Amino acid sequence: MTETLDIKITKTQNSRLSQTDFSNLPFGRIFTDHMFVADYADGEWKNFEIVPYGEIGLSPAISSIHYGQAFFEGLKAYKHADGTVTVFRPEKNAARANKSAERLCMPTLPEDIFVSSIAALVDLERDWIPTAPMHSLYIRPVMFATDPYLGVTPSKTYKFVVLTCPVGPYFSKPLRVKFETHYTRAAEGGFGYAKAAGNYGGSMLPFKKAAEEGFDQIIWTDAKEHLYAEEMGAANVMFMLDGTLVTPSTRDTILDGVTRDTVLALARSWGVPVEERRVSIAEIVEGAKTGKLTDAFGAGTAATIAPVGEFHYDGVDYKLSDPTTREFSQKVLKTLDAIRYGNAPDEFGWNH
Ligand code: COI
Repeated sequence: MTETLDIKITKTQNSRLSQTDFSNLPFGRIFTDHMFVADYADGEWKNFEIVPYGEIGLSPAISSIHYGQAFFEGLKAYKHADGTVTVFRPEKNAARANKSAERLCMPTLPEDIFVSSIAALVDLERDWIPTAPMHSLYIRPVMFATDPYLGVTPSKTYKFVVLTCPVGPYFSKPLRVKFETHYTRAAEGGFGYAKAAGNYGGSMLPFKKAAEEGFDQIIWTDAKEHLYAEEMGAANVMFMLDGTLVTPSTRDTILDGVTRDTVLALARSWGVPVEERRVSIAEIVEGAKTGKLTDAFGAGTAATIAPVGEFHYDGVDYKLSDPTTREFSQKVLKTLDAIRYGNAPDEFGWNH
């Protein structure tokens, strides 16, 4: 990676690496020794620094915590057998971050700052990258408004921070999910396509209720009629229906997921028919009844490929095939792993 950014690096005197139990890496709880921070003020990004991970002093009046002018990204770094470290498709995340920024009236971040800050931090933290199968370094960039001002207006100052966490698999089993027909994640004209912090805060009550009913995840449905699938939890959702990979098309309510794009690219390269369109619950139910629904999974950075074991709709449970026997998602997982861990040629140029 090119380091074009002038970053001031202050290394920790107290590394926590040797005390970290790499056999137990709950998602998002263990942070590496350092983080990247930058400030936006006077119309420009400045003060690029890598510092020891820790608290940052902020006013309780900052507008991000009052009005949600904040968004994040998620991507992963992998360590290959020969020690090479790669970040998966960071340019895609950089582009999406700027879509989120524009929707939330926040400053965009030149791709070079986004990618170089991540490259420098990952390079410094390379010893933190787990090498066990399905393990990686989760990278969490976040931008938030820092004006201490209660006016409902775009902040003039912002912080951009990058955190990194060693992680293992996000889900440990096939998921029992339900189509959510009361709560809504996103509506036309809203900002469901952005990785706005508020999109995730608003999902917590529906998740809590679903968990109390015994479900692992929700499949969100459209806000108007609750008849079409939108996303699954914090990931995109995909179905293999009668040999065609179908997934909701990107629009106001759907996140343009990097894993989503990656799976679609793989499918197309294998000659698998792909349809990006509205996907009705009715056709998923019909597919489950007739056996034409041969695969269903969430696709996300944290979740990777998260198989649906069974789904619930309108009082009925529909059990799907054993995920380990599913041809398409198993092939995706195997291929993705091979590319990301450097065991197969990176034909798409995804490893940075
Ligand atoms: C990611 O996959 O990076 C996500 O955004 C999910 C996260 C909210 C856990």
